[in-house]
Amino acid sequence: MRKKIVVGNWKMNKTVAEAGELASAILEQLGDGIVGCEVGIAPAFPALTEVGKVIERSDIRLVAQNCHYEDDGAYTGEVSVRMLESLRCACVIIGHSERRQYFGETDHTVNLKVRKALAEGMQVIMCVGETLEEREGGVTDRIVTGQVREGLKEVSDLGGVVLAYEPVWAIGTGKTATPEQAEEVHASIRATIIDMYGELTAGHLRIQYGGSVKPSNAAELFAMPNIDGGLIGGASLKADDFVAIVRAAG
Ligand code: PGA
Repeated sequence: MRKKIVVGNWKMNKTVAEAGELASAILEQLGDGIVGCEVGIAPAFPALTEVGKVIERSDIRLVAQNCHYEDDGAYTGEVSVRMLESLRCACVIIGHSERRQYFGETDHTVNLKVRKALAEGMQVIMCVGETLEEREGGVTDRIVTGQVREGLKEVSDLGGVVLAYEPVWAIGTGKTATPEQAEEVHASIRATIIDMYGELTAGHLRIQYGGSVKPSNAAELFAMPNIDGGLIGGASLKADDFVAIVRAAG
């Protein structure tokens, strides 16, 4: 049985003070009621320290939204995995479609980042997903399979990896994939992982769904056999909504 994992991706929202308040509100509402599911929150870099303090004594994990693949050096504006570790960040999101779309992230850089984070012992959430054009062109499977294979190239141990399937057309648009549409792609991703790593590893791998998950649709998405939780954008910015989604998973 795979433990579900729900992570709030706050993207470029919230000042340090606002992020601290949101984390406190989430913590207060969750109480100790998250036994059935793993929960993480991913504030922007400047708020990691503050949010880390707020959730320090809880089971909520501190997650970063990106990292660089080098240890240090002349990479203005970038943040290394070791820096994130020094803030007690336990996990990092890599290859989000917004990073691919606006910041030139490629399967190759995603792969370098995934390997670096895993080598440092950090959990990774690697995102994959097709655009609307690709879906309408009937190439969803080829695109997503390619992203999975390239992103995981030379990764021998999937122990620290979570995958997130996020159809680009469903992110921030209010258009959610139907549970059946999402399940179809999740099952195909798991089949790819079986092919790459075998049944046992694939059976343990968690695949989150992301793209307009809300309290009203979370339960039906999480009920699908290959959907192991969610990566939540917009709805994670409201404590009530995020907690309702966590409860739908737990
Ligand atoms: P959304 O974003 O929930 O606002 O659609 C999901 C994500 O980008 O992770």
